[in-house]
Amino acid sequence: MLKGNILIKNASEVVTCSGFKAKFGKEMSDLSVIHDGAVVIKDGIIEAVGKTEEILKTYKETDFQVIDATGKAVLPGFVDSHTHLVFGGYRAEEFSWRLRGDNYMEIMERGGGILSSVRSTKAASKKELFDAAIKRLDSMLSFGVTTVEGKSGYGLDLDTEIKQLEVMEEVDLNHPVDVVKTFLGAHAVPQEYKGKEDEFIDYMIKDVLPVVAERNLAEFCDIFCEKKVFNVEQSRRLLKEAQERGMKIKLHADEIVQLGGAELAAELGAISADHLLQASDDGLKKMRDNGVVATLLPGTAFSLKENYARARYMIDNGCAVALATDLNPGSCFTESIPLIFALSTLYMKMTTEEAITAFTINGAAAVDKADTIGSIDKGKMGDLVILEFPSYHFIPYHIGVSTVEKVVKNGVLVFD
Ligand code: NIG
Ligand code: FE
Repeated sequence: MLKGNILIKNASEVVTCSGFKAKFGKEMSDLSVIHDGAVVIKDGIIEAVGKTEEILKTYKETDFQVIDATGKAVLPGFVDSHTHLVFGGYRAEEFSWRLRGDNYMEIMERGGGILSSVRSTKAASKKELFDAAIKRLDSMLSFGVTTVEGKSGYGLDLDTEIKQLEVMEEVDLNHPVDVVKTFLGAHAVPQEYKGKEDEFIDYMIKDVLPVVAERNLAEFCDIFCEKKVFNVEQSRRLLKEAQERGMKIKLHADEIVQLGGAELAAELGAISADHLLQASDDGLKKMRDNGVVATLLPGTAFSLKENYARARYMIDNGCAVALATDLNPGSCFTESIPLIFALSTLYMKMTTEEAITAFTINGAAAVDKADTIGSIDKGKMGDLVILEFPSYHFIPYHIGVSTVEKVVKNGVLVFD
């Protein structure tokens, strides 16, 4: 990807979100704002940040592409740390069934839901998957996303899981948004393995995971740890194997039933546990003590008409909370960052500052990249958003509408 030299000056606010690791509890309120700020990016890397007056004493404007951000706020690029962005087909009818009262898990149990997307993804060519994913990334970029995590999991067999991961690699190379790849081979139980979940986990461990790990096709391994999907013991078995093969781990945990996913994430030292609508007090505290990021996905709760995760409780008890869209064709078909800001602030009792931390430095921590992205600090990648408004307070205030005017990725203006 191109790496550029940009100098942004006169920003009414540079919201640095400064830090090199996840922010826990009260730390999430600290955004470290510089007024009348400037940011210098050289060869794609942030070289300086400070007051415009000071920066212009050291740096010559003629050496850079200069952006005058008078009346605008500048923030780190957003990190959407949980999505399922590569999939074939859609499930629009299923959404309408749910509006009439059908239940998400029951639709899956009768062969629809995730299994329906598995059939469409198997049938799709790599080109079709690639084109659709690029369009989704364009949309995400327009919302200010500069790094996204993407999961496989619509294959459930060797060939299709690999096809999805290869498509993610291709889109990563061909789009400014960086894609962090996660292997989610244990996303649902294929019909031929119903009642034989242990055997399916054996198949993943023996035949699929080794190929993914050896070919370095994914950085993370994830699993849907849920009642009637994979239990705690099956999840532990697969995730430990992934760790032994050098992969980092994540979990879809305690979404619908309190199964002990949060506790398992803490026990195994997962980078993040996601959803957590039903997570126990004890599980959350164990996650906090073990530095596991709690990734909350309010778009899914909204779309499935579930109760929201207990963000306030988590933050008040010292957890590191990240927010993400969970973009997928079933439970939450949205890549809208403004929607997630609205839900998290208006319904989950998060403050504006906490929600911004959750989408920047804590999103970066949820993909284990807080040392290189997620804040405007010297040495980090030059990934920024410039708002059309003078203050970060406009982000949730302009409800459901994107406030992002420009996006800079690796010091290159990629959205304007
Ligand atoms: O995170 N919970 C399981 N997986 C996805 C949904 C995937 C789908 O419905 O296609 C989730 O919500
Ligand atoms: Fe998900």
